[in-house]
Amino acid sequence: MTENTVTAPKKIIFSGMQPTGYPTLGNYLGAIKNWGALQEEYDCLYCIVDMHAITVRQDPAQLRKNAKNLLALFIACGLDPEENILYMQSQYHGHAELSWILNCYTYMGELGRMTQFKEKSAKNEANINTGLFTYPVLMAADILLFGTALVPVGDDQRQHLELSRDVAMRFNNIYGDVFTVPEAYIPKSGARIMSLTEPTRKMSKSDEENSYVSLMDAPDAVIRKFKRAVTDSDMEIRYDQAEKPGISNLLEIYANACGISIDAAVAEFEGKGYGHLKTTVGEAVVGNIIEPVQGRFAEISKDAAYLDEIMKKNAQRAAQIGERVLKKVKKKVGFVV
Ligand code: TYM
Repeated sequence: MTENTVTAPKKIIFSGMQPTGYPTLGNYLGAIKNWGALQEEYDCLYCIVDMHAITVRQDPAQLRKNAKNLLALFIACGLDPEENILYMQSQYHGHAELSWILNCYTYMGELGRMTQFKEKSAKNEANINTGLFTYPVLMAADILLFGTALVPVGDDQRQHLELSRDVAMRFNNIYGDVFTVPEAYIPKSGARIMSLTEPTRKMSKSDEENSYVSLMDAPDAVIRKFKRAVTDSDMEIRYDQAEKPGISNLLEIYANACGISIDAAVAEFEGKGYGHLKTTVGEAVVGNIIEPVQGRFAEISKDAAYLDEIMKKNAQRAAQIGERVLKKVKKKVGFVV
């Protein structure tokens, strides 16, 4: 008797990143690094969310360039463009279509409570557009379009993920099991890398330059930024986010850059001074992340035709998966399909 081995289909992972400049060390440790670790076990879509980016005014030529660079950087960070679907959000219309439909199942009150909306409106007072307000609905569409089971993100996306789940459940309650209700995948360590100059705030590329490390910073600039990192007036190296946010952030970065536990990192620095800690963390980030990524990026970005081909092919692969859900949704809400 011959036995047929039936392999269950892999679960789907979706995540996205805005092409607003080069990713930071926070983006890398909170998201991209984990994406790479999940690529074999799941079917993964990693999306360059240029439609989200235009909620804040962008220079068109620069946005296009950033988006292409981000694709090259994804690959340079170890995401295999054959294994994973790496693509541009604006190259598949399904995101916009589903987003409109989901707008009609999301409440103003829910969107008004979003922390990121409040923060971004405070920063962009002259341009509080409706896209900024409905941004989380587009994000829900991104996720729900593909039957996504798991969404690997940093801690700052937790609230948006909750909203995606609420919208999915609301829709399913009315129409039956249309959407898979996604789970957030937030790493225990590295999910909230803090600013180097204000370690009680999240590291963000929209803040002043010394506060963040970009994956494309020159190695000596990275070392300099770490040397200047704000710590405290105490002398003890221990992990205590509330009392010692600066030191804890450095320890967390070091542990993640070296692939060791925080405890092991703390043990390594026992009896050492802050100066030594800062230099060692800077060197680990440069040696283990910045230099290898930049080396591969330089190679990959030389081949523009290859990147264009990947973009085109992967947008089609995404569309193939997305169309199944989109068609079902359109039918359910009463469109002629
Ligand atoms: P974005 O582009 O702001 O950030 C991309 C990813 O990086 C994570 N991240 C961080 N992780 C740790 N420490 C930090 N300081 C840090 N800063 C950013 C973010 O949590 C995120 O995982 N709205 C999303 C993009 C998006 C998306 C999606 C994500 C659009 N659609 C669907 C998941 C699923 C955003 O603006 O991420």
